[in-house]
Amino acid sequence: MTSYEDVEFVLRDSRFRKSIDEAMPLFAASAQGSGQQQDRSSLLYDNMANNDPPVHTALRKPLNSSFTARAVAPKRQAMQELAESVLDAVAGQESFDLVQDFAFPYSIGVICDTLGVPREDRETFHQWVQTITSDAEPEVLRRDAQRMVGYLRGLIAQRRETGTDDILTQLAVSLSESQAVAQAYALLAAGYETSANLIVTGLLVLESDPDQKARVWRDRSLVPTAVEEMLRHQSPFNLSLYRYATESVEVGGTTIPAGSIVFLAFAAANRDDARFEDPDRFTVDQPRREHLAFGGGIHNCIGKHLARLEAEVAFDVLVRRCPELSVRTAPQHMDWKASPTFRGLRNLVVAPGPLRSRSGTAETGEAA
Ligand code: HEM
Repeated sequence: MTSYEDVEFVLRDSRFRKSIDEAMPLFAASAQGSGQQQDRSSLLYDNMANNDPPVHTALRKPLNSSFTARAVAPKRQAMQELAESVLDAVAGQESFDLVQDFAFPYSIGVICDTLGVPREDRETFHQWVQTITSDAEPEVLRRDAQRMVGYLRGLIAQRRETGTDDILTQLAVSLSESQAVAQAYALLAAGYETSANLIVTGLLVLESDPDQKARVWRDRSLVPTAVEEMLRHQSPFNLSLYRYATESVEVGGTTIPAGSIVFLAFAAANRDDARFEDPDRFTVDQPRREHLAFGGGIHNCIGKHLARLEAEVAFDVLVRRCPELSVRTAPQHMDWKASPTFRGLRNLVVAPGPLRSRSGTAETGEAA
């Protein structure tokens, strides 16, 4: 599905279902299913993204209240501290990699804070996450996934004994051990790259339009609306996860036969000119908020308020501290990841210009 109307229709129609157990034979039977073919032996598939009610409700409900706009708002300060410290680490460099040196370390930091991964374990944790979200060899993927699962299992067992106010504790007290591990894993898998990619592709779209970029750099109060429009324009979650038709359904004049696996092209829907006037236009103060960058229906992104805040804080810090930030990688050298689902670059070299200190003054003599 690629049109806004069709994508929205499928998102809200319960005849398109998610149930990993029912979908497995369909994947196996589908000649085109190879891209998403999965091994059901992994308990990690027992997550909210792979199941409809009642399983979905049982898995998502314990977390809903922790991800509302009101619940995530108090995280702003910690996010800002994190973004500042990640930027401090590249201070003095003429250039740095916005993907590897800023967006990924920042994104993993936000997720670790949210889940409750102790600071001393974060580097190792980040290495596992980088492997499992990469196109490494299957044995390497399996090895690091197993290490990560073992580690999460240990943390969840600890939280059963002594809980705190983090997500791992909520998972530990409301779900079975394997369900809790699978939900933690799903939060990581869904929130790590997407949030980082939004920052990186968001900067790219600003860079492609110097007037829009200058407006944000002159007036940081435009950051929230700019981020909202980046979501529509760049759609970091390009293509949905699977759904399948439980019966024959007509969508936009086409009959989808029962048993078909369906994917929804969020990126295409967000640029559909039947829904958005001049959809390729990007204007920092006129976001088209009805975009589908976070999906919709019961599987809408649980992390959407966290992701928005995360990107807002990142741009706020970048704009304030890097008044001359510019992209150095030429378009023909940009190495896009070969993922059907996530749209992101492997690297993006940027020159920060003279870096401002946290308080906004020139950091070094060179910045005067
Ligand atoms: C810019 C960042 C993000 C984007 C664009 C994004 C986008 C999406 C989209 C489009 C879906 C629906 C997929 C489908 O229906 O097939 C989704 C689901 C989900 N997202 Fe996000 N996401 C982002 C960040 C996050 C973060 C930070 C978290 C958690 C910390 C998160 C956790 C989830 C989960 C658990 C689901 C499955 C929800 C369910 O099935 O009920 N996402 N996301």
